[in-house]
Amino acid sequence: MKKTIVTGGAGFIGSHTWVELLAAGFEPIIVDDLRNSEERVLEGLEKISGHKPVIHRVDCCDAEALDRVFAAERPSSVIHFAADKAVNESVRDPLKYYHNNIGSLATLLRVMDTHQVKNIVFSSSCTVYGNSGHSPVTEDLPPGEAASPYGYTKMVCEHMLRDTVASDAGLRAVLLRYFNPVGAHPSALIGELPIGVPSNLVPYMTQAAAGLRDRLTVFGDDYDTRDGSCIRDYIHVVDLAKAHVLALQWAAKQHPPFCEVFNLGTGKGNTVLEAVHTFEQENGVKVPFVIGPRREGDVPVMFADTTKSRKVLGWQTKLTLADALRDAWRWQQALG
Ligand code: NAD
Ligand code: WQD
Repeated sequence: MKKTIVTGGAGFIGSHTWVELLAAGFEPIIVDDLRNSEERVLEGLEKISGHKPVIHRVDCCDAEALDRVFAAERPSSVIHFAADKAVNESVRDPLKYYHNNIGSLATLLRVMDTHQVKNIVFSSSCTVYGNSGHSPVTEDLPPGEAASPYGYTKMVCEHMLRDTVASDAGLRAVLLRYFNPVGAHPSALIGELPIGVPSNLVPYMTQAAAGLRDRLTVFGDDYDTRDGSCIRDYIHVVDLAKAHVLALQWAAKQHPPFCEVFNLGTGKGNTVLEAVHTFEQENGVKVPFVIGPRREGDVPVMFADTTKSRKVLGWQTKLTLADALRDAWRWQQALG
């Protein structure tokens, strides 16, 4: 299990996972064409770890190129992060999402089969729960109606993995459903790269605090929650990264075939206004904000039941929302 292909390993979650894999004795190999990341991430990884990352700049939808990577590296496992992830963009340009998110997984599974690689960890999302109506959500909750083409691609990928496991007695698949990943590495050498106007809360908030945006709009304060704003499960990206190491280690000990799903969240919900006030308190800066109307498609309350990941993987979060918002601010300042 030691040599692991990390598709999308130059991205936000993939880069933090590369650090944790290396620290745990794995040999992570990045496969990323840098379509949504930058060269400087690799410099950050080298500074943090003292190791120069190995990267293949390959499109995961390119079967021949991916095949050459597998032939050269001979990995024993794969973590598949590579995907497009902007919910709004997926509504405007659904085919981009169907092509990349579904196409890259289908291509990868074929290449894995050719090279007899039998272990995969897949980045799924709490978006597959749709508007579940109640939280905390457990893994066995039937999937909701997908809120976006992006969300639908994650559902299709989950099905693809289940069907492939059913057809291959040797395959081990772990599906990790992330809640709201936030924060950055405490070194401020890697973090989330802002591309255009952020649509996610934390990058928008850090940019507003830095004066790069006029103000944050809090989307609605008339929900049935303790302060009227929506509740989400914000998880520090370093805690999230560590779960991938445990998932690989756990999978190696189980008899195939299996396709197991785990929620990765803190198990605790925070409102948007709590996040804003925590950010201000921790960092000693003001976040200019106004209350605006509800955002279409927002689920009022979503947080994870983490019992399964705690009991089975032996994983739980150690970092708090305050830690994440301090690290997010440090990263924003490093970006300049
Ligand atoms: P990211 O955009 O920062 O990282 C994705 C990386 O994959 C980028 O470096 C990009 O260049 C690369 N990539 C994309 N398509 C590729 C392809 N076809 N070939 C090669 N490289 C490709 O995104 P992230 O936030 O790190 O998300 C990683 C995964 O986690 C995605 O699958 C995403 O859907 C999932 N996820 C993210 C969140 C979140 O809020 N960030 C939440 C739930 C699930
Ligand atoms: C969080 C809260 C907003 C921006 C998305 C994807 C989901 C998953 C995680 C990938 C909500 C509020 C936001 C702003 C605000 N990603 N907000 N003002 O919508 O929970 O989930 O990211 O899989 O699939 O849908 O995250 O960060 O956009 O919003 O008030 O400018 O912050 O209404 O309550 P969300 P988010």
